[in-house]
Amino acid sequence: MAAGKDNPRTIKVGIIGTGGIAGAHITGYQKTEGVELYAACDVIKERVEAVAERHGFKKVFTSFEEMVKDPELEVVSVCTPPFAHKDAAIAALEAGKHVLCEKPMALNGDQAQEMVDAYKKVRRKHKNLFSIGFNARWGQSAQTLKRIIDEGELGEVYYGRAVSHRRRGVPGWGVFTNKALNGGGPMIDIGVHALDMALWLMGHPKPVSVYGVTFQKFGKKKNVYNPWGSWDPKKFDVEDAAFAMIRFASGATLQLECSWALNIEKSYSQQIICGTEAGAQMNPFMVFGEKHGALVDTVVPERVTEGQGRAPESTHTLEVEGFIKAVREGAEPLVKPEEGLMVSRIVDAVYESDESGESVRI
Ligand SMILES: NC(=O)c1ccc[n+]([C@@H]2O[C@H](COP(=O)([O-])OP(=O)(O)OC[C@H]3O[C@@H](n4cnc5c(N)ncnc54)[C@H](O)[C@@H]3O)[C@@H](O)[C@H]2O)c1
Repeated sequence: MAAGKDNPRTIKVGIIGTGGIAGAHITGYQKTEGVELYAACDVIKERVEAVAERHGFKKVFTSFEEMVKDPELEVVSVCTPPFAHKDAAIAALEAGKHVLCEKPMALNGDQAQEMVDAYKKVRRKHKNLFSIGFNARWGQSAQTLKRIIDEGELGEVYYGRAVSHRRRGVPGWGVFTNKALNGGGPMIDIGVHALDMALWLMGHPKPVSVYGVTFQKFGKKKNVYNPWGSWDPKKFDVEDAAFAMIRFASGATLQLECSWALNIEKSYSQQIICGTEAGAQMNPFMVFGEKHGALVDTVVPERVTEGQGRAPESTHTLEVEGFIKAVREGAEPLVKPEEGLMVSRIVDAVYESDESGESVRI
């Protein structure tokens, strides 16, 4: 039967880096119609072989350079730690593959710029898509809040607060606590999700300056209570909390906070967006306004599933489904590479400002 609307042609996908987050991409591809788990690659041979066997990948590689030569491979998820994102993504893009690269886009803004530049050189020839794994944008509340803001309900948005705090949640696996391989600590790991979400909700205003402060108060201590595993305090060389104020050309301002370890009541993530007509927050999702001479709060229930035909999927699955849909339709992906680059530039500025004690112009 020829491929058609009810019978989409099969898209062959590959994963580079078959560690923790690869599992979420694999689930997403498995739940997406018309996708074949085709190629898996990891520098750890036993790991990639085990993942390939468990999920039925046809081909196994220990070198992404070899994997991207495969002419049948169409879509690649880059799920390595950040130090390998740039080379893996560029190799796949230059080979004509569509690339969904995990966050953070790269170790720093210069690497992210190299990726954008490399993509610009090949995109006309290959017509391939490039997106970054800011999966939180796919959440039901995030999508609703974005619509509320885009329809002008908040008026002129001039203040945002983006938070991703863990009371104790230092990733004890992989290379997360190694500056050279991960690029930094919670700022580049989870702060980027909060930052990307706020920039997107605020309509990607142009940043002009950043004042940032970071702390390393837990990483060098021994025996910190941490349900997410342990680390070697001698090798821990990233921050464990970061705080920043980002100013935009419009005058709007964003306050950003994130931590892997902080002495607060509990871990939480939040977005607060304030405008001249109303404000809104996620977690819990509420809109704060004024009507008939009184203050009015609107509560937006989250995760209401009735009538939607299926339970809410994880944002990773929605992201993967959305990326495959964009590939099929030749549409722009939800997260553009330039937006990932801007996040990386702001993260660089937070670290630079922390070093210098001054605010940094972007
Ligand atoms: N979007 C999210 O919510 C989310 C959640 C967790 C992790 N992540 C991101 O995903 C990425 C991976 O994180 P993880 O927790 O899966 O790490 P991980 O350490 O569990 O897995 C990474 C895998 O990549 C492999 N690898 C390293 N260099 C490679 C190379 N050159 N070629 C092929 N494979 C290589 C490693 O051997 C490892 O198996 C990071 O960028 C992380 O920030 C995103």
